[in-house]
Amino acid sequence: MRDSPKVELHLHLEGAVPPSFVRGLARQKSIDISGIFDEGGNYRYRDFAEFLKVYEAATAPLTSPEDYHSLTRAVLAESAAHGVIYSETFLSPDFCGARDLGAWREYLHAIREAAEAAEAQDGIILRGIVTCIRHFGPDAAREVALCAAETAGDWVVGFGIAGDETAGKPRDFAWSFDMAREAGLRLTAHAGEWAGPQGIRDTLRDLRVERIGHGVRAIEDLALVDELAEAGIVLEVCPGSNVALGVYPGWRAHPIGQLYDRGVKVTVSTDDPPFFHTTMTHEYDRLSEAFDWDDGVFATLNRTAAEAAFCAPETRAQIL
Ligand code: HPA
Ligand code: ZN
Repeated sequence: MRDSPKVELHLHLEGAVPPSFVRGLARQKSIDISGIFDEGGNYRYRDFAEFLKVYEAATAPLTSPEDYHSLTRAVLAESAAHGVIYSETFLSPDFCGARDLGAWREYLHAIREAAEAAEAQDGIILRGIVTCIRHFGPDAAREVALCAAETAGDWVVGFGIAGDETAGKPRDFAWSFDMAREAGLRLTAHAGEWAGPQGIRDTLRDLRVERIGHGVRAIEDLALVDELAEAGIVLEVCPGSNVALGVYPGWRAHPIGQLYDRGVKVTVSTDDPPFFHTTMTHEYDRLSEAFDWDDGVFATLNRTAAEAAFCAPETRAQIL
């Protein structure tokens, strides 16, 4: 299914950095991050806590807007090669710009220039969701929200939260989400990946998001599943990520099939592809095997994703 057109709503820019790219930059800058790789040259982590540490360490050699320019080109070339026509990408001022608004603007400019070049060359469209990192705490999130609000527009279209879902409560971040909403940004939050159904309920109540990143553990509370379906909350499901991190033991055990059958608006994304040894093609192929999904189901998933994209209506018209 490599060539079928795909809409992806949940990709972390730093999480898409290929190990060889990071190693090259680290060598150039004499930064030693050899400990994050295994013998095969892939990222090495045993669990989610370690994944977050390795993820952060892999951003250490990304120290300039030029690095982000090259990274964005590399990531979009790879996505386009798997049929992705639209990529809503998490951009993190915690890792690029250190939450300093001036520096953030420079990084954003570089990422946007690279995205425009990729669009001209490969036809792939990127839109940004500025994301704060939950385990960095509410004060850091406020600064990220200010960066997001100041750069909100037709290109930075959303605000979100990633990181360790067990750190703090959604309400600790309500100020940041309120400020982003007032700036006109659309909202999504990681929830229901590591915390159970209550985390999703708290997130919807306190952050008033229209999409949930992951959200798969809603399956543990069928009343919540019905509520999500009724409210039309869109789940950015990343099955390969969940399987790689051990949230579920395998593809057949993943709840995306049940969520879809119960009428929840599910979509499919890769999250952090090189960390999880996945691509959009891989996701589609494994889902097709696990749930016997045909092209009609994938067309539905892509329509759901295009309708739930945070871009302007003219852009949506291009990807529907
Ligand atoms: N969960 C939480 N935070 C993240 C993830 C994830 O899957 N990927 C990158 N940051
Ligand atoms: Zn994610």
